[in-house]
Amino acid sequence: MESLLEVENITLGYSEDIDILHNVSINIAPSTITGMIGLNGSGKTTLIKGIYGFLKPKQGRILFEGEDITDIKPYSLIYKGIWYLPQDSSLFPYLSIEDNLYIPIKSLQLSRNEMKKRIKEIFEQFPDLGEKRKKKAGNLSGGQQKMLECAMVLLVRPKLLFVDEPVVGLAPKVATEMYERIVEFLHWGMTIFLIDHNVRKVIELSSYVYVMSLGRITSEGPKDHFEGELKQQVRHWLGL
Ligand SMILES: Nc1ncnc2c1ncn2[C@@H]1O[C@H](COP(=O)(O)OP(=O)(O)OP(=O)(O)O)[C@@H](O)[C@H]1O
Ligand SMILES: [Mg+2]
Repeated sequence: MESLLEVENITLGYSEDIDILHNVSINIAPSTITGMIGLNGSGKTTLIKGIYGFLKPKQGRILFEGEDITDIKPYSLIYKGIWYLPQDSSLFPYLSIEDNLYIPIKSLQLSRNEMKKRIKEIFEQFPDLGEKRKKKAGNLSGGQQKMLECAMVLLVRPKLLFVDEPVVGLAPKVATEMYERIVEFLHWGMTIFLIDHNVRKVIELSSYVYVMSLGRITSEGPKDHFEGELKQQVRHWLGL
């Protein structure tokens, strides 16, 4: 299978003596959504932290476009075209909406004209944000903050986007919009790794799905592998 990102046999944890992930391997195929589901505390976010360079693997390696990025520093991933929408907010609450947007765009080292053009396009697509551009990001509602994070994704236009629990705490209408945005990212040519507790939604959106359980991949397959026997699978994962 063609891969944009390959994780090969990663073992890691937050301290030397306790491993949280054990021999985890995943492949993310280009121009697809790859999903991951699993119970609370199973290690899904820890896997992203490992790939993103926040935690150092004790064993295994990570390849992006065939290049070994195992020991990469998180800040340099933007240059490679990798971006992360974390489970918690990634915004600077005391900065204005506009200033938040300038932070990633500065790292991309775009020309002033290109920067202005992209910001203008973003405010056309997100008129609510445009109206409030001088307001502090922390004063926006939870849903508007998510939309600002989506706006950043469209500014950065990464090749690979990690999305961790995108709809937690959002009203149903905003959650629907968030899922539409994720599909829009795919249509923009991005590759997406989606972690979500909404099993049905992950299976609906993803081409390939991984199940994480106690730091191990316990099941994986193309979406149709999961679609047919969803109820049974969920009971199995929950140990019922
Ligand atoms: N900063 C940390 N220091 C030490 N242990 C941690 C830390 N963060 C998470 N853990 C532990 O690592 C394990 C995996 O947690 P992780 O957050 O990766 O799970 P998750 O699958 O993302 O869960 P959730 O669905 O609740 O987001 C848990 O046992 C958790 O207690
Ligand atoms: Mg998590």
